[in-house]
Amino acid sequence: MIWRPFTQEKTTHPAIKVKKGEGAYLWAEDGEKYLDMISSWWVTIHGHAQQEIAHAIYHQACTLEHVIFAEFSHDPAETLVKNLKKNLPAHLCKFFFSDDGSTAVEVALKMAYQYFQNQGMKERKLFLSLEGGYHGDTFGAMSAAGKNSQYHATFSELFFNTASVEAPEFYTGVQAIEEKENRIIQELHEKLSEIGHTISALIVEPLIQGAAGMRLYRLEFLEALVKTVRQYGILVIFDEVMTGFYRTGKMFALDYTQIIPDFLCLSKGLTGGFLPLALTVTTKKVYEAFLSKDPQKAFLHGHSYTANPIACVAACKSLEILLRQETQQRIAEIAQFHKNSFVKNVHKRRTLGTISAFDVSSYEEAHSLANAALQNGILLRPLGNTLYLLPPYCVTDEELAKVYDVINKYL
Ligand SMILES: Cc1ncc(COP(=O)(O)O)c(C=O)c1O
Repeated sequence: MIWRPFTQEKTTHPAIKVKKGEGAYLWAEDGEKYLDMISSWWVTIHGHAQQEIAHAIYHQACTLEHVIFAEFSHDPAETLVKNLKKNLPAHLCKFFFSDDGSTAVEVALKMAYQYFQNQGMKERKLFLSLEGGYHGDTFGAMSAAGKNSQYHATFSELFFNTASVEAPEFYTGVQAIEEKENRIIQELHEKLSEIGHTISALIVEPLIQGAAGMRLYRLEFLEALVKTVRQYGILVIFDEVMTGFYRTGKMFALDYTQIIPDFLCLSKGLTGGFLPLALTVTTKKVYEAFLSKDPQKAFLHGHSYTANPIACVAACKSLEILLRQETQQRIAEIAQFHKNSFVKNVHKRRTLGTISAFDVSSYEEAHSLANAALQNGILLRPLGNTLYLLPPYCVTDEELAKVYDVINKYL
């Protein structure tokens, strides 16, 4: 009866029914235990059923489960925003709530577009994106990723037009990367000198394209890209839905650079994997472009569950746990463990913070490796021919060692 996401129901095995989660583990109904090495689609940053978050949720549910967020506000949302703000560049100071990564992106796209429309710059109708990017499965998010997306080809005729830039993939042993980056930036200049005035925003996953296969690109390229587009008055959207909350080793990927984007999209790890919640954070300059006596100039966008108080307390507690010294230390240790780990007979070995990835020669081999891992009680989920580890921060060195051992034995 259940139709699963991202699943070819005809060829896949029946779902494993999970009864319980604790820390890095999931327990199936048949008694098998699985080490969740992908944090259940990158959300459970502290591991499963984290008790402090669970209790915070219970108390909030007994006090105020939900309230319309237009005329009303509440402490959980205000506290969350106040605490997040302390961890962001001062310019990122206006917080718009939504429900998941895709809607955080939709909000950023719509705000960027309307920012120009409200000021009479009607020609800025295009978006610019990095080839291979992934920003979610709603129409705006799909369109923004471009027509060549490996996930959304079926719908591409329905997308709005976007311009794209090649992403210069970086990995151990890559050759002539600087030449490649320079060429791409040069070509971008040429393109923007013609169409730059028609683009409202650049959207990128900073430093690493997640669903594209954990593909890294260099900070130097990100900085050159942003510098270039800003010369043409184009706004910048950082989609940190995957990279946020220390996934890359720092709170946000933007902390690796001096760049302050005009929009920051957050979700996934925001509530520690307990509840759907998202934020699009922007600047005072953007916010003020929506202030008017004309109601049509307001940002007329919202969702029924916007800023749900239970999700907000989960996010407050998750942030508190994240900032603890022991969590910070563990994140640094996981990053070091990945860096020191050897994986034999693979291509394009790469790590960034708590993410570790490599490619095998085919899609079939990747799936065969993931199946072998599952037989050994390890949950991996390949992206094409890429295998990656993206563990919850409670994972131990012994557990990581077991995972690398199983992978190497298979390879
Ligand atoms: C970078 C990025 N943006 C947006 C999304 C969409 O998030 P959601 O699945 O919560 O809609 C994802 C999901 O993987 C993502 O990785």
